[in-house]
Amino acid sequence: MPKTIDEIVRKKNGQKITVVTSYDYTMATLCDQVDILLVGDSAGMVMLGYENTAPVTIDQMCMFTEGVSNGRKNALIVADLPNKSYENETDAIANSQRLIKAGADAVKLEGRLPEIIKAIVQSNIPVMGHLGLLPQTATKYSVQGKTKSDVESLLDDAKALQEAGVFSIVLEMVTSEATKKVTKMLSVPTIGIGCGQYCDGQVLVIHDMLGLFEKLKPKFVKRYLSLSEEIKKSISQYVKDVESGTFPSDEHSFHMEIQS
Ligand code: KIV
Repeated sequence: MPKTIDEIVRKKNGQKITVVTSYDYTMATLCDQVDILLVGDSAGMVMLGYENTAPVTIDQMCMFTEGVSNGRKNALIVADLPNKSYENETDAIANSQRLIKAGADAVKLEGRLPEIIKAIVQSNIPVMGHLGLLPQTATKYSVQGKTKSDVESLLDDAKALQEAGVFSIVLEMVTSEATKKVTKMLSVPTIGIGCGQYCDGQVLVIHDMLGLFEKLKPKFVKRYLSLSEEIKKSISQYVKDVESGTFPSDEHSFHMEIQS
């Protein structure tokens, strides 16, 4: 049985919550041991080659979600509502329902939007919030929560999201000091990316942690593999093998049945 929202929330103050992004069936089957597979709209950058997440559509997010849903057995699936898909309550509910139909267990949206969150939660769909750096609308990627007044407004935003009914909040690129305060104040878990060690859980973009995406290498990413190097080496070998005629060999060939 996949993890439930209650199991995730109960992890606050216990074991850390583990999250990676996932956008397709194969990767979901490989990453399913984490608590949450996040079908992030970072898919727009790592799967579709966009400059940022702003152009991602709800149709694209539904397709990515369906692939992940076909591959998971254990993890909870949270899917991002893409930019401009939750500008009013009617759209927010309809688009959340589409993601749930595609296989998500919950949706995530960016920013302080308590009325929109309440409307989605009232339609029986769990919501994960997202504060700090908001990639759908940010004009530059900068660290958040650096000044006392930034921290106060972050605390206020986080409280508003919790009161609106989110079951957890992603914090992105927030100072460790601010993250510690927000995490301590909330009863729902925080999940950090680029926020240091004080969150209740961690998320990384899978292409970053596996060394698959070469365009960006943020300071907060820990690379567990250099998969792009491995892939390029394999492709060079394949090209050599095919061009030299070493592949396919008899080992990879089919033969007719021997007729008597
Ligand atoms: O889209 C995404 O990958 C995200 C993470 C950065 C949290 O929202």
